[in-house]
Amino acid sequence: MASAPLNEATSTVVPEHDDAAAAVAAYLHQHETKGLLRFITCGSVDDGKSTLIGRLLHDTKRLFDDQLSALAADSRRHGTQGDAIDFALLVDGLAAEREQGITIDVAYRFFSTDQRKFIVADCPGHEQYTRNMATGASTADVAVVLVDARKGLLTQTRRHSYIISLLGIRHVLLAVNKMDLVGYDEGVFERIVDGYRGLATQLGIEHVTAVPLSALQGDNLLERSPHTPWYRGPSVLEYLESVDVTRDRADIGFRLPVQWVNRPNQDFRGFAGTVAVGEVRPGDAVVVLPSGGRSRVDRVVTADGDLQVAAAGQAITLTLTDELDISRGDVIAAAARPAEVADQFAAHLLWMGEQRLLPGRPYWMKIGTRTVSATVTEIKHKVDVNTQAQLAAKHLELNEVAYCNLGLDQPIPFEAYRDNRDLGAFILIDRQTNATVAAGTLDFALRRAGNIHWHHADIDQAARALSLGQTPRCAWFTGLSGSGKSTIANLVEKKLHAMGHHAYILDGDNVRHGLNKDLGFTDEDRVENIRRVAEVARLMTDAGLIVLVSFISPFRAERRMARELFGEGEFIEVFVDTPLSVAEERDVKGLYAKARAGKIPNFTGIDSPYEAPESPELRLDTTAAAAETLAQRVVDRLLG
Ligand code: ADX
Repeated sequence: MASAPLNEATSTVVPEHDDAAAAVAAYLHQHETKGLLRFITCGSVDDGKSTLIGRLLHDTKRLFDDQLSALAADSRRHGTQGDAIDFALLVDGLAAEREQGITIDVAYRFFSTDQRKFIVADCPGHEQYTRNMATGASTADVAVVLVDARKGLLTQTRRHSYIISLLGIRHVLLAVNKMDLVGYDEGVFERIVDGYRGLATQLGIEHVTAVPLSALQGDNLLERSPHTPWYRGPSVLEYLESVDVTRDRADIGFRLPVQWVNRPNQDFRGFAGTVAVGEVRPGDAVVVLPSGGRSRVDRVVTADGDLQVAAAGQAITLTLTDELDISRGDVIAAAARPAEVADQFAAHLLWMGEQRLLPGRPYWMKIGTRTVSATVTEIKHKVDVNTQAQLAAKHLELNEVAYCNLGLDQPIPFEAYRDNRDLGAFILIDRQTNATVAAGTLDFALRRAGNIHWHHADIDQAARALSLGQTPRCAWFTGLSGSGKSTIANLVEKKLHAMGHHAYILDGDNVRHGLNKDLGFTDEDRVENIRRVAEVARLMTDAGLIVLVSFISPFRAERRMARELFGEGEFIEVFVDTPLSVAEERDVKGLYAKARAGKIPNFTGIDSPYEAPESPELRLDTTAAAAETLAQRVVDRLLG
């Protein structure tokens, strides 16, 4: 994944001391306490990106070469691992991405000066750039945006800046490169900077610093150049060494997302994680989210002993004065200022899936230390990242960016991304392939989860089932059009009826005349078609009925979603397995002939996929047995 050879990319500086051992100790101390700046470079090879990075790595190293060789000898003698801390930091970043399961092509390069340590995420400029850049940018504090002085702002500059703003990077260094090729002309520089400031304002990027640069000649790279006497700002390196990236965060109060529950023995129960926001002290009143349980902090435990106070970024284990049920993914927050809890959000989404995003389809959502099931309930608009224009969309393709509404299967504690990256950023994971398909940021809660309550009825499903004298179930018939679903479902209902049972058929053709008459046959409409009928089927089984659902339901993801609405053993997937050739030959409704003639687009089996069930409860081979026989098998299963 990362291709940067760590040692080559590392440069260090040591203060001059007489005593080499003292020098090493001082160096190590300085190294440990030195701040770290993570930044990303945006731009293409043509813009001089590799020259810039190459020179930063190389020149910062050469600058301190003398001291470096002195240290190298000494640190070997003393057996110290001066770079160990930094290496761990580097590996940290990579582990997070590996966990996300994305194949990314981001090289992390590392260097340091006597002011700061730096990790630069270098993303190659090919077509998967958006994904790579989003990955590199997700932990960056600063983005260096390179522009060729001769070309000015390009489509690519706008695209990159959009992603920068989406991911909440607040500091941009606009490096107007190749100034040597425009005669170090101040006017050229000013025009580009003016244009970029307009863009930054539009995107809400707060801090822009512009540098006239020649990465190749070294002008304004490490030191200010005599070729641009009109320029009074910092060099690139001066900027990177001094930019203040501490966030003037709204004081939103202490938050600890619980990573794991530490229970080595009966006497100790601690909640481990990294403080995301604020400070915590023994005695502080806290609330556990989303459950709402309250307690006080007993101890703040670390590997180096108990602390009197811990702040954002510190890994700690909390013990509380009360026994509360807390698990991974919960958030322990300041009782006076708890995080919000919600299950519906407006969010920005960057789609990275090879398959398109379909609203209504459930994905895993990983946010903080928690994983829940989520669907995009509505795409408000997608964004043309080149023009910022808002466009209508029914689905999203690879690399598209959109503003969406999300619905979760349970309430979660969260923070708007602008307030807190840890509790406001999420990824979506495809439930079939486990691939990461989106990165997103929460904007605000649409509705507090608590505002809509589940109304409790005194008569429950069991009581209704008892009075009907049956076990409510859902037989879900899936198969191609003309496979025989409706024929068999009809026979099943007749048999059940004759035995005094209460059953009902939900048939695709019929439901599409009423409840679903607004839906067609695109992938996204089929997802919604199945979502609605699955909900209706669930209500019917709750009413005590035996429901027979007869829909093509071509996608595994939606059949799985339907299954998950039902209780254990309640859902029986019946695959009416008729080969396409047979269904087409029968062609009861004459639809296959029309589809082949190009008169019906998106016809299942012809130009729209059918994903056969992998492990249905029943598989009915209509070429091997009569419909009567197959119907009886379904009845036996339903009543068994
Ligand atoms: S589903 O794919 O969304 O589950 P559904 O079962 O509701 O489909 O409707 C399928 C029925 O609609 C078919 O049996 C057929 O009669 C009719 N139909 C019309 N156009 C199409 C199409 N493009 N693809 C499949 N079925 C179609």
